[in-house]
Amino acid sequence: MGALSLVFGVVFLIINGWMANGLSMNYYVMTCPIADAIIGNVVRPALLSDPTLAAGLIRMHFHDCFVEGCDGSVLIDSTKSNTAEKDSPANFSLRGYEIIDAAKQELERQCPGVVSCADIVAMAAREAVSFSGGPYYNVPKGRRDGTRSKIQDTINLPPPNLNASELIAMFGKRGFTAQDMVALSGAHTLGVARCSSFKFRLDAADPTIETTFAKTLSKTCSNGDDTEQPFDLTRNRFDSNYFRALQRRAGVLFSDQTLFESPITQGLVNMYAFNEALFKMDFLRAMIKMGQLDVKEGTNGEIRSNCHVIN
Ligand code: HEM
Ligand SMILES: *[C@@H]1O[C@H](CO)[C@@H](O)[C@H](O)[C@H]1NC(C)=O
Ligand SMILES: *[C@@H]1O[C@H](CO)[C@@H](O)[C@H](O)[C@H]1NC(C)=O
Repeated sequence: MGALSLVFGVVFLIINGWMANGLSMNYYVMTCPIADAIIGNVVRPALLSDPTLAAGLIRMHFHDCFVEGCDGSVLIDSTKSNTAEKDSPANFSLRGYEIIDAAKQELERQCPGVVSCADIVAMAAREAVSFSGGPYYNVPKGRRDGTRSKIQDTINLPPPNLNASELIAMFGKRGFTAQDMVALSGAHTLGVARCSSFKFRLDAADPTIETTFAKTLSKTCSNGDDTEQPFDLTRNRFDSNYFRALQRRAGVLFSDQTLFESPITQGLVNMYAFNEALFKMDFLRAMIKMGQLDVKEGTNGEIRSNCHVIN
């Protein structure tokens, strides 16, 4: 028995290809071997009935990872004594929590107490990317759920009024190159921004907005701060149209348009506008990297039984 489990253990380590941070592609091979499929089988039908939620799931993974690492802290509900990340203005329009809950419920049914909420968010984002026409990639797993979720930590999320140099610096501090940052910004090929995220550009008559597009944005805002403006012409399609919009000076956020205005990043925008396959490849690589930001492993963190509350 001892010898057998030793052999098993060694084979397990070899086939798993553990990463330095304790994550691995086959992390659940013994405990919940079809975790990826279980999640896919929940996420895909949900996106078929509402394709706009793909954007929500991808953004959720980003907000999770950039605040306290990828540890499911974005899912925690506020309590009487703690205001959680979720209730920061920066959370605005985070969507798709129901899909994460449904996936967790199914996982708890099939392999109780095993798969972390942070891993579910990472795998749900992967499904959302591929569902929308983006690349499919293997997600390293084994993130543990965090026990801290505080509104003030959302200071680590980039606000939409940053210029390219500030974005490069902010992402650089977290270990991302300018190229990673531009590729990741390409997530804005999906989804929308609300007027409140870009109206300061109209008030200041931002010269980097093309004239007719400025009228489009003004029209959106004439219907109120919460009115949604798609980032590009194909809001549910993972393609290069976001970068082509930047070339026309039809970027929605200041933080989008600045990527084309800055000589440091303009070449990357042009490259991704021209070469969709390259964009997808760089995005895939950057997403896998983002998914490993400050992950908790080993005895740190926990496997939450309800993604909304710390055990
Ligand atoms: C580069 C710095 C970034 C800034 C300043 C930024 C800012 C924003 C803002 C202000 C919105 C609109 C929120 C609203 O008005 O409701 C938004 C939406 C979105 N962001 Fe970002 N973001 C950044 C990077 C990212 C990254 C790295 C990802 C994912 C990899 C991402 C994914 C998304 C998605 C998918 C949406 C649309 C959400 C929806 O339609 O529900 N963003 N972002
Ligand atoms: C985001 O925070 C606001 C408060 O700023 C809150 O009203 C809203 O319910 C939160 N959104 C989500 C999806 O939790
Ligand atoms: C970016 O913003 C910072 C801070 O506001 C400013 O110092 C810098 O000059 C800006 N860079 C460019 C290229 O506009």
